[in-house]
Amino acid sequence: MKIRVLGAAAGGGFPQWNCNHPNSRRARQNDSAASQRTQSSIAVSGDGEDWFLFNASPDLRQQIKENDILHPKKDLRHSPIQGAVLTNADVDHVAGLLNLRESQPLRLYATQRVLDVLQANSIFNVLNPKFVSREAVVLDKAQELIKPDGSSMGIEVTPFAIPGKVALWLEDASKGDNFGSVEEDTIALEVEDIQSGARFYYMPACATMTEELAARIHGADMVFFDGTLWVDDEMIREGVGIKTGQRMGHMSVSGEKGTLARLAELEIKRKIFIHINTTNPILLDDSKERQIVEAAGWEVSFDGMQIDI
Ligand code: MLT
Ligand code: MN
Repeated sequence: MKIRVLGAAAGGGFPQWNCNHPNSRRARQNDSAASQRTQSSIAVSGDGEDWFLFNASPDLRQQIKENDILHPKKDLRHSPIQGAVLTNADVDHVAGLLNLRESQPLRLYATQRVLDVLQANSIFNVLNPKFVSREAVVLDKAQELIKPDGSSMGIEVTPFAIPGKVALWLEDASKGDNFGSVEEDTIALEVEDIQSGARFYYMPACATMTEELAARIHGADMVFFDGTLWVDDEMIREGVGIKTGQRMGHMSVSGEKGTLARLAELEIKRKIFIHINTTNPILLDDSKERQIVEAAGWEVSFDGMQIDI
């Protein structure tokens, strides 16, 4: 199975368009230790020919341009992209669907909850319903990814609910502290190559590490994990925002209940941060925080990162 990181940054990207934080400034100046990153998405393939997107970032047009594996290869209209699997309805994970217009056969997989959101927004009909099918995934059930031509990708995904929050643009303040979030709003994926048995987990958003989740990923070969913030109040401290990570549905990398601490106890062969916010110092190759995560056995993903498992 092949995995290509299309975008390693959180919503807004690195640098974010309106951000003049020193990190964003370094990225904007093409500082070699502050590599620019687009918004979070990976592409997955069994054979290196046909690919499924895992989330569709607003930067998808640029991501396709920069990854020739996703370029048309034959005929006048063609794409190696067979479809997309969505883990939530965040703008950084669904807006890219609009780039996939119009009459290209595709299959979209998401929870019924997220499909309902797409259905309620008719702009997503630019993906011509005659050519694009929408499949509801069932939590905790392994499902084979099928190409629009009916053949198998040779890849199976098992979606499962993880702690998180409904997308920012769907928050309902009248519904209390969790803004009306339900189980199907934020999922993680266990992904398996049916032939080789190679497996990994993809979880670009996770609000807390529960005992159940820890037990599930214990012993995994590889995990892509939410790397949004270094500390919970980072955006407030740095003067660029008013929200904590917890308010946004993201656990932080550092701290007692942070990702480094909580995953240190688990045997996971390869641990990779993805969905990293522009303020997070792990984005900088020369930061002490980068040294800390690397010393703890973590990798910080970057656009174009290629992994074969
Ligand atoms: C998030 O991951 O918290 C969201 O993408 C935030 C946003 O929609 O800007
Ligand atoms: Mn996001």
